[in-house]
Amino acid sequence: MQRKTAALLAGTLLATGAAAHAESEAEKAVEYRESVFHVIGHNFMPMADMVKGKIDYDAEEFATRAERVAQLARMPLEGFVEGTAGVAGSEAKPGIWSNWDDFRGKLEDLQKESAKLAKVAGKGDLQAIKPQFMAVGKACKSCHDEYKEED
Ligand code: HEC
Repeated sequence: MQRKTAALLAGTLLATGAAAHAESEAEKAVEYRESVFHVIGHNFMPMADMVKGKIDYDAEEFATRAERVAQLARMPLEGFVEGTAGVAGSEAKPGIWSNWDDFRGKLEDLQKESAKLAKVAGKGDLQAIKPQFMAVGKACKSCHDEYKEED
């Protein structure tokens, strides 16, 4: 009898553990994509300030940040796991998964434009950088307008 109770208890614990695990996989996916975008944003803002003339242009710093954004732009996709639109704290709209090819295309635009920005930033000419920086900003906005809830 005692053995049976222990087995039942173990079974219950396993089942509970599995449910908690399933939940945290979705949360982990959201946390992952939000973290990548957070780091993208952290690197993007100082570049914006330099382009706007709010802070002095530092060619080396700008090039480093542009390089980082180009690398980071290749990372968020794996965090967009199907069925994670409603996870608490997420600002991802369900339309992402019903328009998957369009969403992926917008991420690819960001990858292309940010790679171009990293290249031009390496040359250190702010006037040449400006239009390409705007192209990257447009890629961010075009996806947010469609697929991210407003804060
Ligand atoms: C292909 C679509 C797409 C592109 C391109 C994109 N984003 Fe996002 N971004 C999202 C989505 C969707 C979220 C919401 C993710 C969530 O909360 O689950 C997000 C969230 C964010 C966040 C909030 C992160 C947090 O802490 O929760 C920041 C900051 C951000 N993006 C900045 C940027 C910047 C800067 C760019 C351009 C350099 C950019 N994004 C390009 C789709 C995109």
